[in-house]
Amino acid sequence: MTFLFNSDAKRGAIFAEAFARELPDISFAMDPASVEPEAVRYLITWTVPDDLARYNNLEILFSIGAGIDQFRIDAVPTQVKVVRMVEDGIVRMMQEYVTLAVLALHRDLPAYLDQQRRGIWQPIAPVQATERRIGVLGLGMLGSAALESLHRFGFPLSGWSRTPRAIDGVRCLSGGEGLETLLATTDILICMLPLTEETRGFLNAELFARLPAGAALVHVGRGAQLDHQALVAALDAGRLSGAVVDVTNPEPLPADHALWNHPKILLTPHIASVTQAETAAATVIGNIKRHRAGLDPIGLVDRSRGY
Ligand code: NDP
Ligand code: OXD
Repeated sequence: MTFLFNSDAKRGAIFAEAFARELPDISFAMDPASVEPEAVRYLITWTVPDDLARYNNLEILFSIGAGIDQFRIDAVPTQVKVVRMVEDGIVRMMQEYVTLAVLALHRDLPAYLDQQRRGIWQPIAPVQATERRIGVLGLGMLGSAALESLHRFGFPLSGWSRTPRAIDGVRCLSGGEGLETLLATTDILICMLPLTEETRGFLNAELFARLPAGAALVHVGRGAQLDHQALVAALDAGRLSGAVVDVTNPEPLPADHALWNHPKILLTPHIASVTQAETAAATVIGNIKRHRAGLDPIGLVDRSRGY
């Protein structure tokens, strides 16, 4: 029985050590050419290999990341469980990034960076945290963790999800009416939705128009959720005041793209959060043990929802 690791060698070495310790009966492989395809029961990868069909005894396809939209899930045989990454390292890094992004927007960092480039020494009237309303789209593993880390600053916090949720200290909303309320009362909107057919193109001109004038955006979901042109237009028109964007479509962003040099945008190359090998290996090993005990793995993707 084989576990095939299809990602970078550095993380692979950490996984290999953990597997040798915790699941010695499973052979751990990092080179697809070295395995008997029918022995492969578990595969971890970022994208689905073209030759997936050769692993005809595959039981679980693990994503090395929290998202699974990069898998063409319809092409994965239905008996194979698809499992996303649920691990503490990815959560902690996302908490850091969202805190950084929200504070940067709250404290007018894009405007000050622009002023610095132009040699302008000009204070901007500060807004207190209690007056800056935060709205999070997506209240899953990452959205709820981000809200937890923003709580200490005193921002009024709201969040939106597909099904109703309850989080202490957060106004939780759901459904169409909930979205309307959230958008109308949000000064910094954070997108932490998975990419599905429902969320593709979600951050568009019509949505920006429903935010209070001068609101800002943090986008850490997926590039295809954002209408890039609509973002630039909303920033240029002053409808939005700033944006921190970590995910784009395509990635990498073409050299001549308008997002690169926009003075109201802080851009990072999809680094908001990265799977950490030690904690991820423990999660995957725990999930294989659960699976062997007849339990669902943690992070099992619901194919009908698409996340
Ligand atoms: P989860 O599956 O834990 O949470 C998803 C949340 O989004 C849930 O609250 C869900 O609602 C909500 N949701 C999904 N679809 C809709 C919809 N149509 N309308 C309203 N709410 C919806 O995901 P994670 O928190 O783990 O991750 C979220 C995404 O973050 C990933 O899919 C990935 O795209 C992105 N990501 C980005 C990274 C980066 O570095 N930029 C790193 C890691 C992840 P409900 O609670 O009702 O199910
Ligand atoms: C992920 C990502 O999904 O890095 O983990 O985007």
